[in-house]
Amino acid sequence: MGILRNIGQLATCASDATQGGAHVVAHAAIVWSGDEITWVGEEKNLPPMTDHDEHDAGGRLVIPGLIDCHTHLAFGGWRADEFEERIRGSSYLEIARRGGGIRSTVRDTRRAEADHLFDRVRRHAAEMLELGVTTIECKSGYGLTLEDELKLLKVYRRLSMDGPQRIVSTFLGAHTVPPEFDGRRAEYVDLVCDVMIPRVAREKLASFCDVFVEESAFSLKEGERILKTGRQHGLGAKVHADQLTSCGGAELAASVGAVSADHLEQTSTVGIRAMAREGVVAVSLPIASLYLGVKPLDGRRFIEAGVSVAVATDFNPGSAPSYHLPMALMLACNMNRLTPAQALLAGTRNAARAIGMSDTVGSIEAGKKADLALLDAESVNHWLYNFRPNAVAATFVGGRLASGQL
Ligand code: NIG
Ligand code: FE
Repeated sequence: MGILRNIGQLATCASDATQGGAHVVAHAAIVWSGDEITWVGEEKNLPPMTDHDEHDAGGRLVIPGLIDCHTHLAFGGWRADEFEERIRGSSYLEIARRGGGIRSTVRDTRRAEADHLFDRVRRHAAEMLELGVTTIECKSGYGLTLEDELKLLKVYRRLSMDGPQRIVSTFLGAHTVPPEFDGRRAEYVDLVCDVMIPRVAREKLASFCDVFVEESAFSLKEGERILKTGRQHGLGAKVHADQLTSCGGAELAASVGAVSADHLEQTSTVGIRAMAREGVVAVSLPIASLYLGVKPLDGRRFIEAGVSVAVATDFNPGSAPSYHLPMALMLACNMNRLTPAQALLAGTRNAARAIGMSDTVGSIEAGKKADLALLDAESVNHWLYNFRPNAVAATFVGGRLASGQL
């Protein structure tokens, strides 16, 4: 049993908050029992209570624990050399064509031992916790053999057991066609559908199946087959859609009932309408737009069309080499035209929807997990406007102080 008092402003992001406001309560308190919230409101209305561990928020701003709903957390090596090449003028696709890009990370990941990968992801997750991130979606996709994809997903399972964050795993065997299948891409798609997906599902190593639909990766038809096969095996669908070209990825996400479509820099109005109709969450990845120098998506176009917008880091060694989710939210304000309140909802409640976890996390309400971030900021606007390396003073996961101090 726990209680957090003396909250200056509490942005609950509760279910009655629209993507215009984050439902802010001043002078608030939160009560939980076990890991679950039981009461939220103004402190003056707090019911009499005994036997609760008391925590004093010191007048801080409190928000739901942040949710990074799109990362490629586990990979071998880095690609700082490509960063310089792109600055000098090479494009992401040119680098990929000469064997760099995803394929270069695939080589390093195949060589890496599981223990080494685990040490790396544990370090990243620990820093993310300090930034207020309590739930992380983690994709495979740099192994691209059955054995190496399982290796990555097992690293995530270990991370999930190690705690304290909540981990959601996604199988991304369809990230790119690996070099040994050059000229035989249909055989690789068969391997993904006939061998990898059934095995991943049988071992319960992932909740979702994702596909990179792009000229340089997989076609719409291949994507559809892979996502439908995933669905048949109980894996929800996600799509890397319309990142570099407008190729119908958003429409595909809508037609297969995907929980989210991600990237979307090039999505057409028709694609946006299809997503609105089917309730597909749009995941904006502004760090990737920034690093690749592509025109960022206009978040307001999606919101005005009735699409919920989430924001994530896309942490990976190529297009988005940072796991700083608060920075991604600040960029979403500046690049995607989200207001700070919309950006906060994008990193909490809508991010929970994008990974099918709305029932448990993403807002501060009775019945949800007591995942909280305490910020040294006077308001949500001020937090994302006066951007600092880390404004988070403390992070709670399931009612337990997991990092920082009060
Ligand atoms: O989400 N778009 C495809 N995959 C990653 C990039 C992967 C890489 O460059 O290693 C992304 O941006
Ligand atoms: Fe990605």
